[in-house]
Amino acid sequence: MLEFIQAAEEAARRAGQVLRAWSSKFTVSEKSRSNLVTEADLAAQQVIHEFLRGRFPQHGFHGEEGLNEERPDSPYRWVIDPLDGTTNYVHGFPYYAVSIGLECEQKLIVGVVFDPTRDEMFSAVRGSGATLNRRPLKGSDNTELGQAMLVASLPVATSAEDPAVKRFLKLIPHAQTIQRTGSAALNLAYVAAGRVDGFWSTSLKPWDMAGGVLLVEESGGRVTRLDGSAFSIEEPNLLATNGSDIHQELVGLFG
Ligand code: IPD
Ligand code: CA
Ligand code: CA
Repeated sequence: MLEFIQAAEEAARRAGQVLRAWSSKFTVSEKSRSNLVTEADLAAQQVIHEFLRGRFPQHGFHGEEGLNEERPDSPYRWVIDPLDGTTNYVHGFPYYAVSIGLECEQKLIVGVVFDPTRDEMFSAVRGSGATLNRRPLKGSDNTELGQAMLVASLPVATSAEDPAVKRFLKLIPHAQTIQRTGSAALNLAYVAAGRVDGFWSTSLKPWDMAGGVLLVEESGGRVTRLDGSAFSIEEPNLLATNGSDIHQELVGLFG
């Protein structure tokens, strides 16, 4: 397992350098309305892929920017978001990250989220806990929804009629605050670090979540669907909290 987490961290650091190097010269394209991509996304994915493929040529790879290298004979698959928070990156809003998860037989076993702006490396290995720059991570102690800092990811191009927006509005009076920050991967890392008490979304892709879910679980938190049932990164339905009563209270409010 050590070689996997070390490789994931090294790949994420290399991608972080790429993102920094491109930060003053990228051009922006729209994949669809408000769904942005830059040369930095592509270059960072290439660096991660080349590095990890060099180390683990038999593994499968799945990345946001058109990376689909299936290896049916291998139980391992890397799930990669080279830049989570592209809109923030484009605007110079310093809240974005590199996210890398490793699955073994469809189960996440290693996860890293790297914030190159703050040089923060969040890492987790199944059964061994989560760390931030090598220090153990623990979620917040808060048990009161009324005192909670929550975060939600809404669909990229959304509208007032969107059920996700209605859900967001419904929750507002129940929490201390609800933010929409633009990087699902960092939101998960922040739940693990105790900076956020809970995060939910119904519009994420596997690569948005693969690096961060294990961070939450290994920091003592809980990840389920919004109705409290078992979570899978293959479905866009995630509720991640510090694992306190806040989790069940949110499930009740979403119901
Ligand atoms: C986006 C971010 C955002 C979420 C979007 C994602 P990207 O990822 O995670 O928080 O609301 O749904 O697409 O496009 O910046 O990698
Ligand atoms: Ca993403
Ligand atoms: Ca991305």
